[in-house]
Amino acid sequence: MADKREKFGGRLAVILAMAGSAIGLGNIWRFPYMVGEHGGAAFVVVYVVATLLISLPVFLAEVMIGRRSHTNSRDAFARLSRQHPFWKGAGYLTILIPTLIACYYSVIGGWSVEYFVKSCSLAFVRMSPGEASAFFGSFASSTWTPVIMHLVFLGITVAVVAGGVKSGIEKFSKISLPVLFVLILVILTYSVSLPGAGEGVRYLLHPDWGELTPRTFAFAMGQSFYSLSLGMGAIITYGSYVSKEENILTTSGGTAVSDLLFAILAGFAIMPAVFAAGIEPGAGPGLIFQSIPYVFAKMGAGLPVVSSVVAILFFLAIIVAAMTSIISLVEVGVSFLVERSGMSRLRACLVLFVICGGFGVLCALSFGPLAGVKIAGMTIFDLFDWVCSNILLLVMALLSIIFVGWILPRRVVRDEFTNGGSLPVNERLFPVVYFLIKWVAPIAVIIIFFTNFML
Ligand code: PHE
Repeated sequence: MADKREKFGGRLAVILAMAGSAIGLGNIWRFPYMVGEHGGAAFVVVYVVATLLISLPVFLAEVMIGRRSHTNSRDAFARLSRQHPFWKGAGYLTILIPTLIACYYSVIGGWSVEYFVKSCSLAFVRMSPGEASAFFGSFASSTWTPVIMHLVFLGITVAVVAGGVKSGIEKFSKISLPVLFVLILVILTYSVSLPGAGEGVRYLLHPDWGELTPRTFAFAMGQSFYSLSLGMGAIITYGSYVSKEENILTTSGGTAVSDLLFAILAGFAIMPAVFAAGIEPGAGPGLIFQSIPYVFAKMGAGLPVVSSVVAILFFLAIIVAAMTSIISLVEVGVSFLVERSGMSRLRACLVLFVICGGFGVLCALSFGPLAGVKIAGMTIFDLFDWVCSNILLLVMALLSIIFVGWILPRRVVRDEFTNGGSLPVNERLFPVVYFLIKWVAPIAVIIIFFTNFML
């Protein structure tokens, strides 16, 4: 059965598909508000270092697990450990985590759909900048629209997944990423020229080390894993589609760097607008949705047509980028159900729609009618996000690196990393990468995990 798994065609296709999974709301929506909540430039510095030193080795480890086992993320551990009960159990986490993330990811996807619809009706161009920044509050706290939009977004996602790996995923990422990239640059250029924007640029460039707390590390690590789709089986599943000839160092490195670039650019597109509009940087999940209409409203006052076109394309690109990411979340569960229980692809997609749709509704409502429901001081949405990003992703990523660093024989890891010794550069780098995977990354992740519980 394993040999029937589809393969990506060529290096660019691999990078694009992985980058399609990595680049999404994590970069554009989550990164800026994490920066705002956790101390600006200091967070950015920690984030970049963590990505290169810890996340990249984890990424490599996950690709190796996927490619070596050539199966879905749950069975990958079981197969490579020769059905060891602990690793069989651990594999289930890689199904649980993406499914949990898909629940609330889809809510933000839904917000993007609503903003897209609004920008098509030219709403932002007509609003005053003040109205534009306030728009988010009344929308997110309402009952029906966020729920309906979440279900619409999830429904489209599931339909795409039902269509199969190649046709669904590859086509999407090829178009959406370059478009998004250009649009972010356009918005960035405009955003930094707004009156008062300089403060936002300074906020991103001048670290205030006094802002660094142990929790900064926990959230930066969580953000980095989240943004690279690590610690949840997505990259393992993608790895299983990567052909044996591919150099996983270049594909993984390419993905990590483009993901970083998108996040940083998004930061520079959003933060100056946040400061120009007088929004609190620590405003939380609504940050981009509060600040970006302000940009379009301001732009619209001088350049109405340009502003409308940029707004429409921007939200469309965000929707597609979000979709290429959530597709990889849903794909994990679907491929598991299909390969394990022989369920049809369509039925597996429906199962995921029901589960994620249901929990997602609770998350969507936690910005409005259920805002008062707090668990451990967090709303339902924040709780989902915290448990996934700060706890489960770290646990799973740790298991992946321990698996590659300590369970798989060194010879196998070397063989995967160097394609059987045929890649001289990888051959030379192997000791460093192996050391990072075996020692540096696991120790760092363990320490960071516990800082979550420090004040
Ligand atoms: N990495 C994606 C993003 O940045 C989110 C994601 C998380 C995708 C987990 C797949 C798995 O938006």
